Amino acid sequence: MLTFQDTLEILNREIQAIQHPKTPAGLYEPIAYLLALKGKKLRPAFTLLACNLYLEEVDAAIHPALAWEIFHNFTLMHDDLMDKAELRRGQPTVHKKWNENTAILSGDAMLILSYIFMAKSPAEHLKPLLDLFSGTASEICKGQQYDMEFERRTDVSEREYIEMIRLKTAVMLGACLRSGAMIGGADKTDGQNLYDFGIHLGIAFQIKDDLLDVYGNPNVFGKKTGGDILCNKKTYLLINAMNSANATDKAELLRWLACNNQPEEKIVAVRSLYDKLSVPEKADETIRIFYEKALTALQAVSVDENRKKILRNITEELMKREF
Ligand code: IPE
Ligand code: IPE
Ligand code: MG
Ligand code: MG
Ligand code: MG
Repeated sequence: MLTFQDTLEILNREIQAIQHPKTPAGLYEPIAYLLALKGKKLRPAFTLLACNLYLEEVDAAIHPALAWEIFHNFTLMHDDLMDKAELRRGQPTVHKKWNENTAILSGDAMLILSYIFMAKSPAEHLKPLLDLFSGTASEICKGQQYDMEFERRTDVSEREYIEMIRLKTAVMLGACLRSGAMIGGADKTDGQNLYDFGIHLGIAFQIKDDLLDVYGNPNVFGKKTGGDILCNKKTYLLINAMNSANATDKAELLRWLACNNQPEEKIVAVRSLYDKLSVPEKADETIRIFYEKALTALQAVSVDENRKKILRNITEELMKREF
């Protein structure tokens, strides 16, 4: 049975071994750069670990796992451009280190590379894996579109927000697990329960990301904090603040949303409104609820408790994460 550490060793080795074409360097260097930065590798680890619930030997899941990690990194390259983010994993983002066109085109090449890896999946699983991959990728585009559209709205409901993060973040975690289960030979019910585990975990994961974007330590989190506030992102925190604020606080929040020439002051002011309205505590509570839902879905997976322990442990670690 693999540990999380085992999966990371496999993944790091495999990612390092990817041979990127040498020319044009301007296209491929940014891809190698982003893939070499230290990320958590949660998604490909989930593919390997879900497979390992059913099969001792996970070799057949390695290419699909790498496909997910490359795809995830592609979404980050374009997301950082869309979010005007300067730091990723503690280093300059691709559009800052190179330029915006580089982030677009190297991102495109990365998306293609992820399909090249997915196409190396075992032949007997290829069609369902590709369908899952493409379906999930389309959902993520929808989620990212809502995320952007919501920047311009002030009436986004919590329900709309949850649906947006289900699409932009949670479906990938669910699909990574489901693809590992498929390769492992799991039945449809287990595949669905693992998918649901990923969805609930992903929703909790994104709310935690929203929280860290305001309260995280940038040196640990690896991203510049306050970015969501400056983009007027309709995060869990902002929606919750809007819903619980009295008329005066709400007017102040709306004033800050309309202000885009005092970035430092805006971050400080919005953060103190969050503090005043106990928004971080509420976010923690909601994170806890989604983690519980995730664990319930995991419990329904018809595999020995002992084999599922590793996924439960990762879930607990993610609740406490600071990066
Ligand atoms: C970042 O994902 C994007 C979100 C969905 C919040 P991760 O926090 O998993 O990023 P890395 O891969 O570990 O850097
Ligand atoms: C992540 O949302 C969603 C995708 C990358 C698809 P965020 O925009 O919150 O992710 P970070 O905070 O930049 O990692
Ligand atoms: Mg972002
Ligand atoms: Mg984003
Ligand atoms: Mg974020």
